[in-house]
Amino acid sequence: MAGKEELSYNEAIAAAGDAFHRFPLIKIQGVPLMCHIVHNWDSIWSFCPDPSDLLIATYPKAGTTWTQEIVDLLLNNGDAEVARRAPTSFRIPFLEIHSPPPIHSGLSLLKNMDPPRVIKTHLPFKLVPEGFWKNKCKVIYVARNAKDNLVSYYHFDRMNLTQPEPGPWDGYIHKFMNGELAWGSWYDHVKGYWEEREKRNILYIFYEDMKENPQREVERIMHYLDLSLADDVISRIVELTSFKTMKENPMANYSFIPKPVFDQSISPFMRKGVVGDWTNHFSPAQTQLFDEDYKRKMKDADIPFRTDI
Ligand code: A3P
Repeated sequence: MAGKEELSYNEAIAAAGDAFHRFPLIKIQGVPLMCHIVHNWDSIWSFCPDPSDLLIATYPKAGTTWTQEIVDLLLNNGDAEVARRAPTSFRIPFLEIHSPPPIHSGLSLLKNMDPPRVIKTHLPFKLVPEGFWKNKCKVIYVARNAKDNLVSYYHFDRMNLTQPEPGPWDGYIHKFMNGELAWGSWYDHVKGYWEEREKRNILYIFYEDMKENPQREVERIMHYLDLSLADDVISRIVELTSFKTMKENPMANYSFIPKPVFDQSISPFMRKGVVGDWTNHFSPAQTQLFDEDYKRKMKDADIPFRTDI
């Protein structure tokens, strides 16, 4: 097949040349998104999945890649070779992502895949294309406690050279609290899916639970997918999706993304993978300010987040 699709990701980045930089955010329904997503919003909003498609939805840095790897291995009976067929974002396209041409979009990857597909999104509930609900697609939502999520996002924004500059740490905390980061308010995000989880049959899981007992959470996802795998396969999946193994797996650690986009010398994509790293970042005054604001924003929701395990 001739054409743009033939370019490797690196070739496409090189061809995009100067078009690659820290993209500004533009709001859709009050949610700040990378400008290329907003410029292509109509095609994203009108995307209609197949009923057999599965959506993995998260606020950025909540454990998306980890869950993608677990799901891909579950669907392939724990076959490590099959899971290493391509980098994460080619196996499980990112629904809304758009970059400067000729870099493929999530939608263009999806167009070339037959259902059942697994699809990733960071869109808040209200911006998820309606076809997912009309077609009763299965949805796995992964949530992570706000303070660790914020810390992880801060380091990601330092190394992801297509996201706005994070600026100083103290100011970043305020941007997070004000919902000014890409994909908007963490508070609205986690609440939006939580409120709809029963009505829409959304499997709502927590990063902290995955850390505490990965086998239990792998089994939870397996049951939701109506799969029944042998115990030794489940154990293998737990091992293959440990932080250490994924950090060394070039098909899961985002090392395929070149330095002008992800500069992993600033901060690795697979950074620490722990619960409680926020204690190494928040001062006592920042913790107090954040916690008071958190109580106000989350008073109408009873989501069992844990900041340590
Ligand atoms: P840290 O920055 O706290 O280390 P996402 O995939 O949503 O972008 O989330 C990335 C975060 O998940 C990073 O957190 C990353 O290290 C962590 N992560 C990725 N794979 C993991 C795994 N197998 N176990 C634990 N954490 C993992």
